[in-house]
Amino acid sequence: MKIFVDTAKLDEIKEACSWGIVDGVTTNPSLIKRAVDEVKGGGKRIDMETYMREICKTAGKGRPVSLEVISLTMKEMVEEAELLYRKFNPAAENVVIKIPINTNLDESEEIDYDALKTIKKLSRKGIPINATLIMTPEQALLAAKAGASYASPFAGRIDDYIRKKLGIEFGKVDYFDFDLIEKIGRQRLDKHLKNSRGEPVASLYLNKETKNSIGFGQDNGIGSGVNLVKSIMKIYRNYEIPTEVIAASIRNTRQIRQMAEAGAHIATIPFPVIRGMLQHPKTVEGIKNFSADVVPEYRELFQS
Ligand code: G3P
Repeated sequence: MKIFVDTAKLDEIKEACSWGIVDGVTTNPSLIKRAVDEVKGGGKRIDMETYMREICKTAGKGRPVSLEVISLTMKEMVEEAELLYRKFNPAAENVVIKIPINTNLDESEEIDYDALKTIKKLSRKGIPINATLIMTPEQALLAAKAGASYASPFAGRIDDYIRKKLGIEFGKVDYFDFDLIEKIGRQRLDKHLKNSRGEPVASLYLNKETKNSIGFGQDNGIGSGVNLVKSIMKIYRNYEIPTEVIAASIRNTRQIRQMAEAGAHIATIPFPVIRGMLQHPKTVEGIKNFSADVVPEYRELFQS
């Protein structure tokens, strides 16, 4: 699995790239806001154009850098994408344009399909697209069909959505044990079916409690962010779809492990979470013991 760093902070990109494990960078307007706030907080001015060019150069050739448009309609998104590509791709030939999969601001509004049309138009022009804010396998399928090179399912935000519906209090980086939720759901269903013995199948099937038990802890059949990525990977494999899946909105190291198990092509990970991937108390204990056990004869070997 490739690892991207999910940040617009230049120092984090520089540092993570120096570790030799980073294959790309993803940004979005919120990450750029955080980076700009940090620079300004340090009392410095920021020249956005120079800063973004530096991000592309630091990542370097062969490491894609996703830059996102800010408009919501096709004409503007195409213009912005072309501008970003023209300005920043020459630095290291690594720019990918992020287009949200659906730009409607109101769920009740009729969908305008501008996002899909934009993805199609730009992909046909040879500009690589990362379809972002993917929350369902269906959206991922449409993104791929429209020609996106990458699809970014937001795993952490799906976990947030499901946990909130269940009324579970959680911290942003908490691991979501969806196996446990599934077990609780199954137990509820078993209990309900047991209590409804003798009820005709049709009424039992339509029964509200049956429905609630089946859909328990799920977003239309999806039980977690990891589950979302698994489903997209399955669909893409079924049809040999070349679009690469970037598991995004990653909050903790265990999610990364599960994304790798699911076969995600890429995980885009916040800087502190990448650091967390190295941590284990027994590793610390082990290195302390090794250091304490070095005998003088062994040390001398390195001093000649
Ligand atoms: O890659 C998308 C990511 O930046 C969003 O993360 O934690 O705000 O859901 P988060």
